[in-house]
Amino acid sequence: MTEIRDLTVGVLGGTGAQGKGLAVRWAHAGVKVIIGSRSAERAELAAKEIVEVAGGTVSGADNADTAANSDIVLVAVPWEGHGDLLASLRDQLAGKIVIDCVNPLGFDKQGPFALPVTEGSAAQQAELLLPESKVTAAFHHVSAVLLADLANVSEVDMDVLVLGDDREATDTVRELAELVPGFRGVYGGRLRNAHQVEAFTANLIAVNRRYKTHAGLKITGV
Ligand SMILES: NC(=O)c1ccc[n+]([C@@H]2O[C@H](COP(=O)([O-])OP(=O)(O)OC[C@H]3O[C@@H](n4cnc5c(N)ncnc54)[C@H](OP(=O)(O)O)[C@@H]3O)[C@@H](O)[C@H]2O)c1
Repeated sequence: MTEIRDLTVGVLGGTGAQGKGLAVRWAHAGVKVIIGSRSAERAELAAKEIVEVAGGTVSGADNADTAANSDIVLVAVPWEGHGDLLASLRDQLAGKIVIDCVNPLGFDKQGPFALPVTEGSAAQQAELLLPESKVTAAFHHVSAVLLADLANVSEVDMDVLVLGDDREATDTVRELAELVPGFRGVYGGRLRNAHQVEAFTANLIAVNRRYKTHAGLKITGV
């Protein structure tokens, strides 16, 4: 078995809040990270910023090189760009574990709401576009703000639901989650159940707005 710390984790859209936040935590835990972006320059800049905060081994590249040179790849781009990006990276992502954390959400005067997705969910769209990859879904409910605040938030106290159809892949992603102090990785079902997990983020954002917090999820009884 390969040690999780020996794997390289690539982050597509790693210049954004969510990708950067998880990259900070993984780099701090000793995982080799590649930040991906549509612009290699932006990625290199973000990688530098992460090393300043978290230390570790972090480099930057365009999304295609990031996918090609990583063992596990987190997809952390907005829903609007999700399908096109993954369709363009099918070859680079073949045979790899892909982690989708994308929440297809809309916002109006009444707050956040889940968007309908033709394929069922962002994760199922990824599975259709990447038939040779092991697609999983995780980290939907994790606050980028808490992740980024390494100085004040030493433990991110919440459960991370991990969904997928390949047991070994979901176990690896649970392990990757648990490198972050406070996280517990919990298997959350097959990928066909990703819709409600993605959609539930709208409820959590509503909680955050009402109670001025960064709410997370805890599963009891496990
Ligand atoms: N923010 C959170 O707390 C949070 C929590 C859980 C899950 N998520 C999910 O994580 C994903 C990223 O969230 P975020 O807040 O980090 O978003 P973001 O900052 O708006 O976007 C992340 C990165 O995606 C790239 N990007 C933007 N538009 C793109 C497009 N059309 N095609 C390809 N790449 C594009 C940009 O990088 P470049 O310009 O450098 O390419 C950007 O820095 C979302 O799907 C969100 O639902 C977010």
